[in-house]
Amino acid sequence: MADILFLSDSEFEAYRKLIYTESGIHFTQTNRSILEGRLKECLRQSGMQTVKDYLDKISGNKDEMKMFLDAITTNLTRFFRNQPHFDAMEYFVLPEIIALKKPAGDFSVRIWSAGCSTGEEPYTIAMLLSEKLPINFKFEIVASDLSLKCLITAKEGFYDKTRVVGIPDSYLKKYFDQNESGYRVKDVLKARIRFDYHNLKNASPWKNFDIVFCRNVLIYFDEAAQTAVVNHFWDSMTAKSFLYIGHSESLFGMNTKFEFVKTKWTTLYKKWL
Ligand SMILES: C[S@@+](CC[C@H](N)C(=O)[O-])C[C@H]1O[C@@H](n2cnc3c(N)ncnc32)[C@H](O)[C@@H]1O
Repeated sequence: MADILFLSDSEFEAYRKLIYTESGIHFTQTNRSILEGRLKECLRQSGMQTVKDYLDKISGNKDEMKMFLDAITTNLTRFFRNQPHFDAMEYFVLPEIIALKKPAGDFSVRIWSAGCSTGEEPYTIAMLLSEKLPINFKFEIVASDLSLKCLITAKEGFYDKTRVVGIPDSYLKKYFDQNESGYRVKDVLKARIRFDYHNLKNASPWKNFDIVFCRNVLIYFDEAAQTAVVNHFWDSMTAKSFLYIGHSESLFGMNTKFEFVKTKWTTLYKKWL
C-alpha cells in the first residue's frame, strides 16, 4: 500500500497542475507531503487502487473534483481571529462607512467573508455588527467557501465548547444556546448570513460589498492566482470599500488598484474611487 501512495515526480506534477488550474491552490515541493497525506485519505475513502486511477476519476467528474478540492483544503479558523482586525472595524472602518452612507440616505452594509471555512469568521462579524452598527442600519453577510463540508458545519452553526473560546461571555450568552455538548448559534444571528459555495478562482457572482474579508486564504495561492482573486474582489466592491487579508499576507508588489491603509490597530486595504 505504501508504494502506491507515494507520488512519483510526474504524478505530483499532474496533481499539482490540476489543483492549481481548478482552485488556484499552489502546492510546491515544500508542502508536497501535505498533499500526499491528504491524497492518501482520498484514495482510502474512494477505494481506488492507484493515484493514476484516482486522477482519472476526479478529472472527468465535476462532483468528484469538488470533493477532492474539499479534501485538500486547510480550514483552520477561530472566533475573533486576530482581534486587531475587529478593533479596526469597530473604530475605523464602520465609522468611515457610516459617515459616507448616512448623508446619502443609505443605511445598509454588505460584507463578504470569502474563504469562511466553518463559519467562525462570518459569525464573529455578525455579532460585532449587531452590536456596533447604529440601530437604523441593516447589514447582510455573504459567506463562501470551496469546502462543502465546512459550509455544512457553518450553516449548522454548532460548535464544541473548545471552539467558542475567544467569544466574549456577553456575546456567547446573547447569540448562542448552550447544551451539554456545545453551543448553537441562535437563528437571529444565522439569519444575517447567507452561506454559499464559491470557488475564488472564478469571477464573483456577487456585487456591491462595502467590506470584504479574505483572511488566511491567499497564502495558499501563488502570486498570479492571488492577483486574479484580489482583482475579482475589486469588481465586487462598492466605489468606497475595504478589504481585509490575513495579517501574514500582503498585496505588496501586486498589480492591483487597492490602496494600503495603516490604522492604529492593523493594516488593511481600500478601494477609493
Ligand atoms: C485557513 S481557512 C481561513 C478561514 C478564515 N478566513 C479565517 O481567517 O479564519 C482557508 C479557507 O479558504 C478556503 N479556500 C481555499 N481555496 C479556496 C478557493 N479557491 N475558493 C474558495 N475558498 C477557498 C478553504 O476551503 C478554507 O476553508
